[in-house]
Amino acid sequence: MSIYFGADYYPEHWPEERWEKDAQLMEEIGLNVVRMAEFSWAKMEPRLGEFNFEWLDRALDILGEHGVRAVLGTPTPTPPAWIVEQTPEIFPIDKDGRVRGFGGRHHDCQSNPVYRAHIRRFVTAMAEHFKDNPNVIGWQIDNELGTGHQDTCMCDSCRKRFQEWLEKKYGTIEELNRAWGTCFWSQDYNSFSQIYTPKITFTGENPSAMLDWRRFTSDLVVEFQQFQIDIIRSICPNQFITHNFMGFADNVSYYDLAKSLNFVCHDQYPGGFFAQMPHQPNAQLAATLDLMRSVKHRTYWIMEQQAGITGWQVMGRAPQPGQLAMWAQQSIAHGADCIVFFRWRTCAVGTEQYWHGILPHSGRPGRRYNELRAMISAMQPVMEKIQGSVPKCEVGIVYSYDQEWAMTIQPHHPDLHYIGQVVKYYRALYDCNIPVDFLSGEEDFSPYKLIIAPLQYILTPEQAEKYRAYVKNGGHLVMTMRTGVKDATNLCMTESELPGLLSDVLGIEIPEYDCLQGLNGRVRFEDGGEYDVEKWSDMIELHGAQSIADYAKEFYAGTPAVTCNAFGSGRAYYVGSEPSDELMDRLCGLFVEGSGVASLGETPEGVEITHRHVEASNEDIIFVINHNEAPAEVSIPSGWDPVLAEEGSIMKPFEVRIYSRKA
Ligand code: GLA
Ligand code: ZN
Repeated sequence: MSIYFGADYYPEHWPEERWEKDAQLMEEIGLNVVRMAEFSWAKMEPRLGEFNFEWLDRALDILGEHGVRAVLGTPTPTPPAWIVEQTPEIFPIDKDGRVRGFGGRHHDCQSNPVYRAHIRRFVTAMAEHFKDNPNVIGWQIDNELGTGHQDTCMCDSCRKRFQEWLEKKYGTIEELNRAWGTCFWSQDYNSFSQIYTPKITFTGENPSAMLDWRRFTSDLVVEFQQFQIDIIRSICPNQFITHNFMGFADNVSYYDLAKSLNFVCHDQYPGGFFAQMPHQPNAQLAATLDLMRSVKHRTYWIMEQQAGITGWQVMGRAPQPGQLAMWAQQSIAHGADCIVFFRWRTCAVGTEQYWHGILPHSGRPGRRYNELRAMISAMQPVMEKIQGSVPKCEVGIVYSYDQEWAMTIQPHHPDLHYIGQVVKYYRALYDCNIPVDFLSGEEDFSPYKLIIAPLQYILTPEQAEKYRAYVKNGGHLVMTMRTGVKDATNLCMTESELPGLLSDVLGIEIPEYDCLQGLNGRVRFEDGGEYDVEKWSDMIELHGAQSIADYAKEFYAGTPAVTCNAFGSGRAYYVGSEPSDELMDRLCGLFVEGSGVASLGETPEGVEITHRHVEASNEDIIFVINHNEAPAEVSIPSGWDPVLAEEGSIMKPFEVRIYSRKA
């Protein structure tokens, strides 16, 4: 049975008499999967060892009769009151040393052995109970791992685990002292047992210790997930295991978290998280989806797709007619094989009373239900055709958690954000309808004509060698300010001028730099074109490279700001500042032209074209998406056959069209 559309369903919030009606309505709208139970521990085990799965059995039966299967979540983000009452030491401790208490969710320390024992006991019982239920097709571990706590837990159990992690990594305390540069401010340790979790200090923090803390907490979350995966896999070998990610959330490396999952899921709330680019939400949404496809370089599910107004205490805008359907189709366009809407029915109880579902509080189908029903019935045959297909991308953008963590520890400029930089480069390509893969850096670079690697701040000799080989063999590489500054343990490199290990590839040296606090910089091209730059200026000396644009301001006016170097049979560009959008567009034009990367076509502002390549039929499918609340005039390139498309060149607000052609 093929699964394409679903909803997040919480039958325990509603009287049992309603469940049949819900299942009927789900069947009628075209849903055939639900996710359930990821917060329902107290309901499934009201007292120690007293298991109550029967309510869920009954819900699964009713749903099953209407052709609706289920993914069950392990309810480990919400240990019940009876557990924390008996063992309050599982409450997490925040950076300020305060206990985070009961009443929300994620009130659990993920390393605590007592909590682990409860999880082993409960997850084993749950897996045993549902292993042979034909209506249960898979599992989700916990919920949005890594984003649940604002801080990572700093309790004594986590401290001990951190010490063990460090001892394994460094072997001896002398090696740790060297790697962390503890000679500064008398921070030398005599033994691993002296090391603390980084609770709030009076002044400053050690950047190397902080980076290892971020790596350790990421590893801890990955291991926490693995602990549960091992239990479930051994009991339920025929059900898949997945997890719901959160795009650019950064508390855990999603590359690592994805490794032992069958596929990843993502939670997409276009009305709820425009963090990095509030003025360019469409590109931000697209980037998020492309990242989710890229963590495993395969198709994914949306486990929570926005289904109405978002909000806990305050609310977002009401999605306009057509907008929810369009957002769901955008998720598909970037590689989703299944869309599960959050949530089925707007909740009457608890924190999320205003995070709206497909059905309103009243449970009566309305505008959102009808809109999604029409979209689902139109998309079902398309979904069948495109299952498993991904775009063929000629451009890769490197996105690395190490850079994100190191730059968050020392952002240089108050407004400089690594993810913001990454998405800025992405935006310029997105506006040209050029499909992009994100790269962890471990992939084979050779399929890509153009690789953009912003802020390669931490640079190991192995990574440098990989970039060098890529360019040497004909690749086009874009690197930026603050490349090659730090070694793997976050110490400054001292052997040569910046960009250190890649000076030869880039054909430049950077003996000085300027942090642009409180002013913008400016650059000028030979043709007289001038553009703003922000936040940072590298002062570049040419050692073989050519200048593309020079600074037009400050004491280094007339010196290179953007350069290009021919190296081997490829080209290496260096951008010494953060480009304004206008400059980014011009530079992107140069990179694209130089590397021969193809665009999917030109569109007016707010209209994107995305593509998926179907190997089996050797077909390309394109999605043309009008994000505008106004009509848009679009010319569809010739040779494309309509799969799901109205005729004429005027697209309605939020309209999506789908075309295909033999590759
Ligand atoms: C997240 C969670 C859900 C729910 C929604 C809406 O994405 O995974 O449980 O809390 O947000 O707030
Ligand atoms: Zn802890």
